[in-house]
Amino acid sequence: MSKRIAIVGCGGMGSGHAIAIATGSGIAVWGAVSSKDGNAEAGRIQSLDTDVGSRLTLAGVYDIDPHRMKWAAGMGYPLYDSYESILADATVDIVLIATPNHLHRDQAIAAMRAGKHVLCEKPVTSTSEELEAILQVSAETGKVFYPRQNRRWDRDFRIIRRIYDEELVGPVFNIESRVQGSRGIPGDWRGKKAYGGGMMLDWGVHLLDRLLDMIPEKITRVFCTMTHVTNNEVDDGFKMQMVFESGLTATVEVSTCNFISLPLWYIAGREGTAVIHDWSCFGKLSRLKTWEDSDALPILAGAGLTKTMAPRDTGSITEYTLPDVQFDNNELYGNLADTIEGKAEQLVTGIQALRVLRLMEAAFQSAETGEVMHFEP
Ligand SMILES: NC(=O)c1ccc[n+]([C@@H]2O[C@H](COP(=O)([O-])OP(=O)(O)OC[C@H]3O[C@@H](n4cnc5c(N)ncnc54)[C@H](O)[C@@H]3O)[C@@H](O)[C@H]2O)c1
Repeated sequence: MSKRIAIVGCGGMGSGHAIAIATGSGIAVWGAVSSKDGNAEAGRIQSLDTDVGSRLTLAGVYDIDPHRMKWAAGMGYPLYDSYESILADATVDIVLIATPNHLHRDQAIAAMRAGKHVLCEKPVTSTSEELEAILQVSAETGKVFYPRQNRRWDRDFRIIRRIYDEELVGPVFNIESRVQGSRGIPGDWRGKKAYGGGMMLDWGVHLLDRLLDMIPEKITRVFCTMTHVTNNEVDDGFKMQMVFESGLTATVEVSTCNFISLPLWYIAGREGTAVIHDWSCFGKLSRLKTWEDSDALPILAGAGLTKTMAPRDTGSITEYTLPDVQFDNNELYGNLADTIEGKAEQLVTGIQALRVLRLMEAAFQSAETGEVMHFEP
């Protein structure tokens, strides 16, 4: 049976959820904030996508901002006049929290104590301590607490995951994952510390969650530097280096003041390299045919000669397009419903979110002290 879900916070993301659920498409249309009808594209369900509407029904929304309530009313969505009225509605099964980050802990705890399951936007909290308090209440009440780490369902990540899992570039020894913008931090709560702002909490949480989900290893060392080019209060970007137990290295970088972007992904294995340049997943995979011809004649490089950096003969490398991936974009919504019905395990768990938060805390500490942090020794 379809679970009834009420949304608190109907701004950019909350309104996207409202459309995604109300139309059943699962497509969170960001333009909902400004566009009149907001859902021009939302009715389009891709062939592989499950129908969210058969699993979740929009019970209604609540936002403290009257403009957002007006928008929701215009869309024909049921309205609640307070958060308390959502919690008091016995027909509501799930509360979806899409408010600024500093509110998540108290709203999640109140919802679970009122007998509701919770789907909580990322970052679920700003500190591991806050999340521990939530998980304690989840255990006490038996209510599901589901972190919404939706970017595990991004096409670029699915491709990288396939390359990593199937060793399409051989055993991987280095991964770089980055997102780069040029507009600084948006001029909203994301620029303010008290609201849980900053790019580590905003984007870092996605990139780190994906990496930790993919690589089944402990992280031994973490080093991080943060930037404050456009904002002194919170980080407007960071560069983080990690060493995994096997020696695999990973770099995660987020920046908001780059007018030329580096690729989203660069992944290096013993027998190949792959790159994904942008969200359209334009990229390629080059695979070595043999290590035999490793010696080369020196080439002129700049003002000097080099054998080491001489390019390979085209014959010793095969270039491929990136592998295809098939997946259900709406799996997270479906898995939430299945988990509540006891039919499945959570794909994104509170424990996973806790590990990511602790990793981000190690990164903050490294940035502050300038030291390498020993993590999961
Ligand atoms: N998973 C993703 O891809 C993704 C993308 C964007 C944002 N988010 C997350 O979604 C959450 C919201 O971000 P956003 O970009 O929608 O922000 P936003 O500022 O656009 O929306 C937040 C809304 O919450 C409302 N609000 C504030 N306090 C409230 C309260 N006490 N009760 C009810 N409503 C309240 C505000 O009026 C606003 O409309 C954040 O946690 C953010 O990190 C996730």
